[in-house]
Amino acid sequence: MLKNKTILLGVTGGIAAYKAAYLASALVKLHACVEVVMTANATQFIPPLTFEQLTGNRCAVDTFDRNFPHKVEHIALADKTDLVLIAPATANVCAKLAHGIADDMLTTTVLACRGPKLIAPAMNTKMYENQVTQDNLDLLRRYGWEVIAPAEGRLACGALGPGKMPEPELLIQHVLRAVAMPHDLAGKRVLVSAGPTREAIDPVRFLSNHSTGKMGYAVAKMAAFRGAEVVLVSGPTALEPPPLMETVPVVSAQEMFDAVTARQDWADIIVMAAAVADYAPAEVSDDKLKKDGAGLTLPLRRTRDILGWLGEHRRAGQVLCGFSMETRDLVENSRLKLEKKGADLICANNLKQAGAGFGVDTNVLTLISAKGIEELPLLSKEAAANHVLDALLALSR
Ligand code: CTP
Repeated sequence: MLKNKTILLGVTGGIAAYKAAYLASALVKLHACVEVVMTANATQFIPPLTFEQLTGNRCAVDTFDRNFPHKVEHIALADKTDLVLIAPATANVCAKLAHGIADDMLTTTVLACRGPKLIAPAMNTKMYENQVTQDNLDLLRRYGWEVIAPAEGRLACGALGPGKMPEPELLIQHVLRAVAMPHDLAGKRVLVSAGPTREAIDPVRFLSNHSTGKMGYAVAKMAAFRGAEVVLVSGPTALEPPPLMETVPVVSAQEMFDAVTARQDWADIIVMAAAVADYAPAEVSDDKLKKDGAGLTLPLRRTRDILGWLGEHRRAGQVLCGFSMETRDLVENSRLKLEKKGADLICANNLKQAGAGFGVDTNVLTLISAKGIEELPLLSKEAAANHVLDALLALSR
């Protein structure tokens, strides 16, 4: 996702500098060209050679190094940079960058960079919470920097609190949002539901389905990468709550109904990717049901149709998308859902098709709208999610 992008990774003198090696390696695996610039203090924690081996590029430390390939190396580096990421950033470097002080290779290079800039402060909690540091971070935000909040935990000094550099995986998500894709959904508010619901039978058992949430999570993640503000309403899944968005955990169809309808007015685009239970036990037993006789008949009631409700209460300009899983008559059945539920787009898949079932990382979608039908090939769920978002963007214009 970072092919043809040059990331300037600034590494400064804190113990978390060792984690920057993982970060550099992960960025290279995403096909970025990674140029590492270190402060002199950072080299006390990790040698430049580590980064040179990982990135295949020279690691710059000294502005006056005579062996640089260009005459004015810091400007040449800045000109080729698509994104700056300073991780870890010490309080000292945050202060210098906030005030335009350029007294070493890193600060001079960054001062000449034009593109997006991310900074991950990492330091002792008291240093981080000091008003002067907070004021410097505010200043950086004012100058357009995205400040990535430090994680909380046990710090190198033994203190417990905020100040840890976030894990490289999280920083990568911020990098991807900043430069991986065009921000064609900027300004759009996207509400996505995902995963199964659970309908309680008694305190021990529930009715549910095989949904893993992967498709909905992929839609939410891609929408965030494309610049949208995203809220994910998720039934119980094994997936981590994704970064870059608010996740609202729910369990039952009724809870999902409440969470989605409460945000209906807020959203410009709503994607109902959740496998909402159509039926729930008519009564939930307060006590565990005991075995009694040969069989058990469980009376069920219909749950409320969330997408149907959204279709009836749509606000002007809002775009609604549903999913449809079928085992036969895919297009006919899905077209009926489009009309019955008042949706703009139905993303249909045949459960029996290879690569389109539950739990896999791929899908084979047919996109159905009033405009017509688009059959997508077997794609990763992320690639399929991008096609869905393309179609929704076209419908919202
Ligand atoms: N949906 C919903 N509320 C429900 C049930 C489903 O919003 N109570 C949404 C799903 O999130 C999905 C679409 O409606 O976007 C699926 O429609 P549905 O008619 O439930 O599909 P199936 O369950 O596949 O249909 P059927 O059971 O009739 O085969």
